[in-house]
Amino acid sequence: MATEQPVGAPPEVKETIQTKKPTGQKIDPYNVAGEVDETGAVKAIDYNHLIEEFGVQPLKPEHLERFERITGKPAHRLMRRKLFFSHRDFDKILDAYEKHGKFMMYTGRGPSSGSMHLGHTVPFLFTKELQEIFDVPLVIMLTDDEKYLYTRNKNHGVQKRGAAVEDFIEFAHENAKDIIALGFDVKKTFIYTDFEYTGLGHFNQNIKEMESLITFNQASGAFGFDASTNVGLISYGAAQCVAAFPSSYPTLFGLEDNRPPDYEHLHRHKSLAKIPTLIPCAIDQEPYFRMLRDRCERMSDPHPKTSLILSKFLTALQGPGGKMSASDPNSAIFMSDTPKQIQTKINRHAFSGGRESLEEHRKLGGDPDVDVAYTYLSYFLEDDAELEDLAQRYRRGELLTGEMKARCISELQKFVADFQERRAKVTHEVMRSFMCPRLLEFGGNRNPSQKQADAGGAKSNGIVNGKAEDEEAGAADATGKEGRGTKSERKQAKMAEKLAAKAQEKLALRPKGSEGRAS
Ligand code: TYM
Repeated sequence: MATEQPVGAPPEVKETIQTKKPTGQKIDPYNVAGEVDETGAVKAIDYNHLIEEFGVQPLKPEHLERFERITGKPAHRLMRRKLFFSHRDFDKILDAYEKHGKFMMYTGRGPSSGSMHLGHTVPFLFTKELQEIFDVPLVIMLTDDEKYLYTRNKNHGVQKRGAAVEDFIEFAHENAKDIIALGFDVKKTFIYTDFEYTGLGHFNQNIKEMESLITFNQASGAFGFDASTNVGLISYGAAQCVAAFPSSYPTLFGLEDNRPPDYEHLHRHKSLAKIPTLIPCAIDQEPYFRMLRDRCERMSDPHPKTSLILSKFLTALQGPGGKMSASDPNSAIFMSDTPKQIQTKINRHAFSGGRESLEEHRKLGGDPDVDVAYTYLSYFLEDDAELEDLAQRYRRGELLTGEMKARCISELQKFVADFQERRAKVTHEVMRSFMCPRLLEFGGNRNPSQKQADAGGAKSNGIVNGKAEDEEAGAADATGKEGRGTKSERKQAKMAEKLAAKAQEKLALRPKGSEGRAS
């Protein structure tokens, strides 16, 4: 619908931008900010510069072609539109899948509040589709410990109201429900919070070994720590790193762990150390995984260097120099927002690539590349043809800012409302079914090229028929009979199966057709 409302950035946005002091672009897990120039204006994040600075590789059309050839599926819109724009060793993951059939996926979320924003859904939507296509196991880490330590550090050691350990565990549970509502398959997905899972067993053994490989200087170089940083935050990175090791999760592969009540299996499983891992995330998390990749081969059971596929940031409503931030409600659309709130936020705060006056806009056209409403559509609108048409008509001045915003509002209102409907069905029980350590079920590539040659199918990456092949365990096997895990592990697995079945009944976990595509 044509509206005659003003085009151009709302005045309050410009004021905020112009009060800033000149600084360089800064991207790390704790800061995402574009360069601020001498006039105080925030520039868009320069992703080409980041590719060079971080030493990551650009994702090229060849990767997309190879992905489509191997999987027989079209690349996700986020890959097609170069919103996932860079990688490390993505080729090696495709090699592993093609040759041996299987790998593990890993991603995560730092539960800083009880509701995720639209930007946080980006890596999860992408991860979900890759997991479905590759049919591989996925672990999702909720870093309640990181967010507790970070928040307390930010508050100079003071523990503010609503920011105790227990609050972050609760945020993690709420975020777990959000993530589940994006449509993950309980059979092949394990979600955990650090407070609940990482302090024991092989995971903790991996953490301690990784901590021994990181000096204070290296951690502070990577994350900007100094002598006033609390020691918890300084060492935290080791946990986020070893979460990428399949050997941190033996139970998921049908192998024994060193946890209560049995403490039976002291040694980490060598076979799991051979399984490669792929991490999808935005590029702010890359410094963790650079640190990890430098140390994978120094572990006593060396792991292959973890592969990464990295996205840009869904920008703040105020424009392309920052990312949506949970701590600034006006910068973000939250997954708990009402249709009205979405409408108001986009109309009031979304930076426009339109011209100052209607007349100028009609004459000179707008710039969709900096237009926030268009940018959001490029992440969430599935239809390539419609997206292209919107861009062209905007450039020609035929489409006004108000119209672009209206299209964005209706798309986001639908996405968020569908999400909220699924979210309402995620009970505590459903959540726990994802969080119970249990044998995962996955098939991987059914026709790996080295099946015959290896005479053991996927042996060379450590998994056989969706299970870990392990000399020590000797008996890992999908049916859960004699010799597979301890009595209590088998009991736990049964319980998880029951919970999973219930969860499946209650929730349509795998939305069909276009719904599945959009989520
Ligand atoms: P967190 O909670 O900051 O972010 C969760 C995931 O969302 C990505 N992200 C975004 N993507 C697109 N646009 C945005 N505006 C945006 N903001 C955040 C992040 O890159 C991340 O993928 N320490 C981590 C939690 C974590 C993790 C991981 C993340 C633990 N292990 C492995 C990725 C992969 C954190 O605080 O994420």
